[in-house]
Amino acid sequence: MPPVAKGLEGVVVADTALSEVDGENGRLTYVGYQIADLANHTTFEEVVYLLMHGHLPNRGELAEFNVSLASRRALPPGVLDVLRALPVTTEPMDVLRTAASAASASLHFTTPVTIEQGMTLIAVFPTIVAAFDRIRRGLEPLAPRADLSHPANYLYLLTGEVPSEQRTKALDIYLILTADHSMNASTFAARVIASTLSDMGSAIVGAIGALKGPLHGGAPALVLDMLKQIGTPENAEAWLTNALDHGVRLMGFGHRVYKTEDPRAKVLRKLAESTSEIDFFRLATRVEDLALEMLHARKPQNRLYTNVEFYSAAVMHGVGLPDDLFTPTFALSRVSGWTAHVLEQVKDNRLIRPSSTYVGPLDLVAVPLDQRP
Ligand code: ACO
Repeated sequence: MPPVAKGLEGVVVADTALSEVDGENGRLTYVGYQIADLANHTTFEEVVYLLMHGHLPNRGELAEFNVSLASRRALPPGVLDVLRALPVTTEPMDVLRTAASAASASLHFTTPVTIEQGMTLIAVFPTIVAAFDRIRRGLEPLAPRADLSHPANYLYLLTGEVPSEQRTKALDIYLILTADHSMNASTFAARVIASTLSDMGSAIVGAIGALKGPLHGGAPALVLDMLKQIGTPENAEAWLTNALDHGVRLMGFGHRVYKTEDPRAKVLRKLAESTSEIDFFRLATRVEDLALEMLHARKPQNRLYTNVEFYSAAVMHGVGLPDDLFTPTFALSRVSGWTAHVLEQVKDNRLIRPSSTYVGPLDLVAVPLDQRP
């Protein structure tokens, strides 16, 4: 048996033409396009098209795609009843996981997996998240608007108001930056499920569960918690020293693949500057500077840098999203990558079934229940 690759570090499990992470040079590309280039020159819908079809759409292709995506935004039959049946205190990621499952069951998503199933899940995620948020606030869910872009429709469904261009653009850029990221934990989970030739809904529900954890997509709300606890730039040094002395992991720092700054953090830092209150942005940059200084001093061999989640928290806060919708909002971007990976997996499928090294006892003999001590 080869040695165990704990956490599968360094193990290559698939070929993909969807995205590439160059961790040494801090580069992320989707289908060959640099992430910053896409953030500057495209919309989230264009990026979804790129991931689904392998090329950027022309005007006609995009118009047709937008109509098709927008036509899938309404909640499938029964899903609103599921949302209303859940306690209003349910965590929104648990709600999304449950409702995504209900939606795929309601729409009879069977195998083989299709692009249309993927598009439906991408289209319906914002409706699910926003409908539950309104229900828990004692408000009626709103009907999606086909005349609004994906991010504008999401903000409209939450607030009942058509958002400003600035808020829409900020969210659009966030969605573009987080749409795909090679073999991250949630995408791998989706591909493992797809590799058994299970259905699209099952793969996406599994991915939602993987994204939820704080070592993956659950970090941004915890970044905001940390910034709130620190409170002012003057408190940052003492707070961070105390946290690191007690072995606490600083949320928004470190990455399995990036050994330099995450290229998404670079774009999001700039965006956070324009979307956040000035005092909040000053606090965030002070905390970032000190955290990097301390992490580099304490763990130079680990090369810990700012990851995507640190400024995601600031941007989503600036856009006006409640803290517990940060991870669901990440999911409504990443579902585009998940579905594209599911489709890619089944195109050239082999069951993903790694091995393990057995370390338990050997040669035990089972005695009947009444003879056991
Ligand atoms: N703060 C303090 N120390 C850290 C941090 C951190 N944020 N990240 C890693 N380390 C330390 C670990 O304590 C460990 O130290 P040790 O060798 O002295 O025990 C060392 O760096 C290596 O850590 P691992 O957990 O082995 O690194 P791994 O590659 O498995 O983890 C991860 C990557 C999970 C992202 C980690 O850096 C972390 O926990 N970060 C904080 C949570 C976070 O920001 N998650 C979002 C990631 S981005 C995303 O998924 C979208």
